[in-house]
Amino acid sequence: MNILILGGGGREHAFCWKLSKSKIVNDIFIAPGNAGTSELGVNLDISVNDFLAIKEEVIKNKIEMVLVGPEDPLVNGIHDFFLSDKILNPIPVIGPTKKAAMLEGSKDFAKKFMERNSIPTAKYATFDKRTIKEGHKFLNTLKPPYVLKADGLAAGKGVLIINDLAQAKTELSEMLVGKKFGSASEKVVIEEFLKGIELSCFLITDGESYLTLPLAKDYKRIGEGDTGLNTGGMGAVSPVSFVDESFLNKIDENIIKPTIKGLAQEKINYVGFIFIGLIKVQNSPYVIEYNVRMGDPETQVVLPRIKNDFGEILSSIASKEISKIKLEVDHKFATTIFAVSGGYPGSYEKGKKIRNIDEIQDSNVFHAGTVSKGSNIYTNGGRVLAITSLEESFKEAINKSYKELKKINFDGMNYRKDIGFDL
Ligand code: AMP
Ligand code: GLY
Repeated sequence: MNILILGGGGREHAFCWKLSKSKIVNDIFIAPGNAGTSELGVNLDISVNDFLAIKEEVIKNKIEMVLVGPEDPLVNGIHDFFLSDKILNPIPVIGPTKKAAMLEGSKDFAKKFMERNSIPTAKYATFDKRTIKEGHKFLNTLKPPYVLKADGLAAGKGVLIINDLAQAKTELSEMLVGKKFGSASEKVVIEEFLKGIELSCFLITDGESYLTLPLAKDYKRIGEGDTGLNTGGMGAVSPVSFVDESFLNKIDENIIKPTIKGLAQEKINYVGFIFIGLIKVQNSPYVIEYNVRMGDPETQVVLPRIKNDFGEILSSIASKEISKIKLEVDHKFATTIFAVSGGYPGSYEKGKKIRNIDEIQDSNVFHAGTVSKGSNIYTNGGRVLAITSLEESFKEAINKSYKELKKINFDGMNYRKDIGFDL
């Protein structure tokens, strides 16, 4: 099978790496990919949202399956585009249709879905510019901090957590009337703040049955001790040591099963990954958000723990035979640490030469914002390289990731020194 992976981050390099070991995968194409993916497959210089260019490449390269990394093309309807095209129709797309992708594409849609299906989540209400006054009244009923979420996709920046009531009201107006996040904030979901520890749960489904992949935890803030600005994720670990059997059962009974049942009952034919962002409040799991894709950098710790042939898993989704797969999970601990550009998540420079990547032999190096020119590799984004290690204990894995990470360098390189500090 020839496969096309859409995306160009660490998640997509990890997909590429895992699929390159598959017995049933022949050629791998990645659009647009990065310096890492170009060593395992063929990078195609096209945007994940350029559906016509994707069609051309699919035909030219005899692609037999498309694996979608990021949410954008899904929310924009890539799956529907394939279904409605005579030539593309038989080619499976791993990722949900536009309607199902609303679980990530609209916070209001996701909250209503949870409400209808009795899935535990923070108390909420949704407002638009005609109901701003009601929004202010709703804020009066909540305790600080106040959580304001742009309804639509806002490149991971659409959630504001504000301590001051007056400021929360001002921000609400900025979002609804001032279009702070463009059309994404034409509606705003206001939520009760939940205090707890977050973790990520991943399912893969063929629309009928599903597999629960290993849990992971990512570290979103730029600074040590979970401080400073939010990033795409500075590191991740799997398994999550604070999750015991009884908590896992609660996730299964209160969240996973009602989610899958809800999708079926509402005739949302979902094919692909479901990423459930959870928060553990006292001893109960609540859903913070749904994403319609794998996490980045969670993929870089989840995939190394899966022993199955990943091509076979994807193939079983396409043929609706995932119930036949027995997932084999490595008991070992995986850790990943991102090296990022100086200044990230604010403004940063690209084009810095990355030195000594070849010296890393004992860990996996997953590329994100990298590009190769001649025999050198240069930075090409905020998050640059994720170093993943798999060892018997968390300590061994994290120590190895740090030891290997310290071998590489580029001007301005930054990384968090405390991934897993709270475990
Ligand atoms: P989201 O995009 O919905 O995942 O929100 C981004 C981040 O904001 C989450 O990862 C949480 O850290 C935080 N967050 C979102 N909603 C809540 C909530 N209701 N209570 C506390 N923190 C939240
Ligand atoms: N690591 C969080 C995400 O992928 O959204």
